[in-house]
Amino acid sequence: MPEIILLAIESSCDDTSAAVCVDGKVISNLTANQKVHEQYGGVVPEMASREHTKNIVPVVVEAMKQANVTAKDLKAVAFTRGPGLMGSLLVGGMFAKSYAQALNIPLIDVHHMHAHVLAHFIDEPKPNFPFLCLTVSGGHTQIVLVKDYLEMEVIGTTIDDAAGEAFDKTAKMLQLPYPGGPLIDKYAQTGNPKRFSFSEPQIDGLDFSFSGLKTNVLYFLQKESKLNPSFIQENLNDICASVQQTIISILMKKLLKASQETGINDIAIAGGVSANSGLRNTLSEFGKKNNWNVYIPQFQYCTDNAGMIAISAYYKYLRNEFCTLDIPIKARLEF
Ligand code: KG4
Ligand code: ZN
Repeated sequence: MPEIILLAIESSCDDTSAAVCVDGKVISNLTANQKVHEQYGGVVPEMASREHTKNIVPVVVEAMKQANVTAKDLKAVAFTRGPGLMGSLLVGGMFAKSYAQALNIPLIDVHHMHAHVLAHFIDEPKPNFPFLCLTVSGGHTQIVLVKDYLEMEVIGTTIDDAAGEAFDKTAKMLQLPYPGGPLIDKYAQTGNPKRFSFSEPQIDGLDFSFSGLKTNVLYFLQKESKLNPSFIQENLNDICASVQQTIISILMKKLLKASQETGINDIAIAGGVSANSGLRNTLSEFGKKNNWNVYIPQFQYCTDNAGMIAISAYYKYLRNEFCTLDIPIKARLEF
């Protein structure tokens, strides 16, 4: 049987990533992170696209080298079609289109948020269908009802900020560099999550809101810093632990509600924020308490990576779901 060897590209935000997958196994997964944004407190879109143009060829060459494959072995090229930053998506998308055309092989478009969910099929244990996936990233916060590899529905979403933004904006207020999520996670590990309390939103159904928390944290820090200018430095760990605990509590209450309403006990987390140690531990505890089968991805498959694009492309390949070279790349793409 000929092998299905796919090259996948992810460039939706500030990571340039390439992966090779052979018969549904991710063999190489390489990412070039962009450090230029740290000093600006967020991703600068124009700089991100320029960095992608520098990184894309060396990252692809290295991913193919590590997987020990050459261009003639490839059966298709996959890329992230959206959602994401337009300039960033265009670099990966145009590279994939050009390469597929040059090699005269099919092209596969992948939805970035579907790919975060399908990252669970890279390694064992793989979830059973149907399952619920809390997909939490810098731009999205969703509860996804996953019926099959290519059949999924968003049953809860944020009405304003994403969970990752709540982490990153809090970090910015604490004068921590971008992306602040991992740093809040680090400081929170030695902090007291009960020291400060922040309000949780009252939103109907399975939707989320994080903008109120952001304002709550801002006013709290302004008030305390007026009384004591070193308040942040002296209480950094407790502030991080308390904000993180509030974000986790907002997420977990809705996830529990979704499980109760759907009767589904196979529960996964995905996206950059699923790398958060507090969220990972809390999900495991909820799993034990509620008899859930929980699925937590390996760290390398939480944040943006081409491995998740490759595995998604594999399932599309098996179903002959290819796209044409003129498919538009979309900053906003319906789920
Ligand atoms: O999925 P991702 O890599 O990119 C998007 O598609 O947005 O997610 C990036 C987000 C950022 O907001 C980052 O701060 C957050 O994931 N993040 C974390 C952690 N690692 C990454 N948030 C909390 N704790 C972490 N350990
Ligand atoms: Zn992402």
